[in-house]
Amino acid sequence: MEKIDGDLNKKAAGEKAVEFIKDGMVLGLGSGSTVYWTLKKLGELVEQGLNVKGIPSSKRTEGWAKDFNIPLTDFSQVQSMDLAIDGADEIDKDFNLTKGGGGSLVREKIVDANSQKLIIVADQSKLVSQLGKFPLPVEVLPFGWEVTARKISEMGATPVLREREGSVFVSNNGNYILDCDFNLIADPGLLHKELKQLLGVVETGLFINITDTIIISGDKGIEVLHK
Ligand code: 5RP
Repeated sequence: MEKIDGDLNKKAAGEKAVEFIKDGMVLGLGSGSTVYWTLKKLGELVEQGLNVKGIPSSKRTEGWAKDFNIPLTDFSQVQSMDLAIDGADEIDKDFNLTKGGGGSLVREKIVDANSQKLIIVADQSKLVSQLGKFPLPVEVLPFGWEVTARKISEMGATPVLREREGSVFVSNNGNYILDCDFNLIADPGLLHKELKQLLGVVETGLFINITDTIIISGDKGIEVLHK
């Protein structure tokens, strides 16, 4: 099996989230190494008889869920989910998020936005006063990505085409990711709207007003923060 970031704070936050899962729930299964620990713990509960179904937000998560025998479903079977649990790359004071470090931002946003509730799990390093230090992932169509990148540069960013092991990174949806350094982002909601208007942009990694509950693990132990 793939080697996972064993950061103890990620593990603690990820595992804590299963306390919010109730029998019979349909779950949104987020992506990333923190959520890995949620899935692992959830697999143990399923083994003990907990009855849940999940919709994975990435192929990687789907693989982990299968490894842990978590029953899966999809949007042809369910209208919405009771609870989604997902990670984040940055979280600001208003609980706005930057996501997409793992390249799953589109599926994550569809899953997270179609859940009654979203809980974000993270280690304390993800808490920031203002989003933007982590370059903003923007998923774009491969066709004409160069012109889309130029348009994003004109908005004041430095977009970099994401690569992995010397090749262009391709998302689960067959698209490219531009990691866009905007410096600090004064108005994440406005930036999201402006980017979405550009031809070629599929989705941005800005998740605005989507969660009211964050589980953070760090120096102060595990905290459940409410907006
Ligand atoms: C993937 C994501 C992840 O949720 C985010 O990158 C956090 O990952 P990790 O828990 O590994 O730090 O948005 O697209």
